[in-house]
Amino acid sequence: MRSQIKTIIPGFDELVEGGLPKGKCILLSGTPGTGKTIFSLQYIYNGATKCREKGMYISFEENKQNLFSQAKKFGWNMEKFEKEKKIFIKDIPVSDLKENTVKEFITYVKENNITRLVIDSLSALAINIPSTYTKLTEINDLFVKRFIYNFINELRTLKDTTTLLISQTSNDGLSMDGVSEFICDGVILITYESLGGDYSRTLRVRKMREINIDEDIHPLEIGSKGIKIHALD
Ligand SMILES: Nc1ncnc2c1ncn2[C@@H]1O[C@H](COP(=O)(O)OP(=O)(O)OP(=O)(O)O)[C@@H](O)[C@H]1O
Ligand SMILES: [Mg+2]
Repeated sequence: MRSQIKTIIPGFDELVEGGLPKGKCILLSGTPGTGKTIFSLQYIYNGATKCREKGMYISFEENKQNLFSQAKKFGWNMEKFEKEKKIFIKDIPVSDLKENTVKEFITYVKENNITRLVIDSLSALAINIPSTYTKLTEINDLFVKRFIYNFINELRTLKDTTTLLISQTSNDGLSMDGVSEFICDGVILITYESLGGDYSRTLRVRKMREINIDEDIHPLEIGSKGIKIHALD
């Protein structure tokens, strides 16, 4: 039987036959301000509170206190779970990125039995690839693609950890680097787009290897308890 990880985000798991495939890397892509960070915090919080699964949120974008206060607005006391070592939040300045950073993440994840991981975001990585990786004057698209490719490939060695990789996208692509959508096992896309109802955002599962996905575009609501995916009328 296939092993799946329930996000318990209302309305989401039924789009992917009950949950995300265990041990895989999923790209969570979207335009700015669409709810990618909130979706990912909810995934980690639900894991710790409802599934007894440890989660780690690695942010290159926002500091820890901002993430805690964002979570608190939805009633999620992440600080408490962090103190109990059930949730790990790491805010890492992009200037601290090194070539072996991903290896350090992997070691940490294994040592602490973390089964839910979030990287926020691949886009921040792509524009700040470690300068040891290549000379600044030589940085080009191919180096960025190769760095992101290797980064995701390393994460895919974690067979018990299901990773959400957040990516910023413009309106016509699935990622900024142009390679992560191919290497990831799944792609979820959130955009600003009204279907004419009450909600101004939509979510669509674009790919999930080995899973019979619901391919429809669904309204996404950010309410007082977090994100909710609505069924189509
Ligand atoms: N408590 C709340 N209730 C309703 N909507 C909220 C609440 N908090 C934030 N939002 C909405 O969610 C949006 C931000 O969500 P989030 O930070 O998850 O987006 P993001 O996709 O991660 O954005 P970015 O690309 O800038 O990182 C805000 O712009 C706001 O519209
Ligand atoms: Mg964000």
